[in-house]
Amino acid sequence: MKHTNKVVVITGAAKGIGKVAAQEFAGQGAKVAFCDIDAQAGQETLSELKSAGCQAFFQQVDITNMEEMKSFADATARELGGIDILICNAGAAIKGTFSEISLEDWNKCININLTGAFIACKAAVPHMLKRGHGEIVIISSASALTGTGAGAAYAASKAGLNGFTRAIARDLTPQGIIVNAIAPRTIMTPLMKGIFSQEELDEKTRQIPLGRIGEPEDVAHWISWLASEESDFMCGEVVMIDGGRTYLS
Ligand SMILES: NC(=O)c1ccc[n+]([C@@H]2O[C@H](COP(=O)([O-])OP(=O)(O)OC[C@H]3O[C@@H](n4cnc5c(N)ncnc54)[C@H](O)[C@@H]3O)[C@@H](O)[C@H]2O)c1
Repeated sequence: MKHTNKVVVITGAAKGIGKVAAQEFAGQGAKVAFCDIDAQAGQETLSELKSAGCQAFFQQVDITNMEEMKSFADATARELGGIDILICNAGAAIKGTFSEISLEDWNKCININLTGAFIACKAAVPHMLKRGHGEIVIISSASALTGTGAGAAYAASKAGLNGFTRAIARDLTPQGIIVNAIAPRTIMTPLMKGIFSQEELDEKTRQIPLGRIGEPEDVAHWISWLASEESDFMCGEVVMIDGGRTYLS
């Protein structure tokens, strides 16, 4: 199996893409530690992972809080024996056009999506450095390129993540840590259902050359592969997973 006995930390894995990624890593033999602001959904996901035979660990964390994230990363290293892989997945789409969006919403979106990834890396990387190796996968979005999706704050936060990915790849690759990002688009998750009507989702489906909306599994397979040794000659890259919508529609 690809990740036998590897310890993976996934942020925001109570639901959506993160949850399916957690299941994918569990199926590939990893020990899975995940955090989320949603404690109830987190406990449900934890029970499911444990029932499937995975050594799993969950802590409620607000990803914008450095102390909470550090205490979770430290507890993971203690409970599961270190950290090999970090998936910066926690995110929120605060929808609004330029005229609609308030400074408060802008700050909230940047804090969760962009600063949250910085905080997760700050908390997990010291544990990787102790081992002299690590893999980081950051979940960006195609909206970093297109400006579509939830709006300016979301697109700006994700464009920030693309720059962050390249910059920390420069810093950390010489120390044995490989960093890449994935930019999904139109993946069916609670986030999508929360911000778009069925009519809007149908319109998006019509724009996808592959003829369907993406499933979390479409992204989770890539997360797992990018975090594995099979992809280790790739670093500082941002991979688009969008059914062809961005360049072909
Ligand atoms: N679904 C898509 O089409 C799509 C497209 C592009 C990018 N993405 C990105 O993929 C990632 C996962 O999105 P998803 O679609 O699975 O969304 P989702 O809403 O289903 O899952 C996101 C998870 O993050 C958690 N979260 C939110 N704020 C948090 C905080 N402050 N602290 C800790 N956890 C927090 C949520 O509780 C949730 O469990 C996000 O970064 C999102 O921006 C999704």
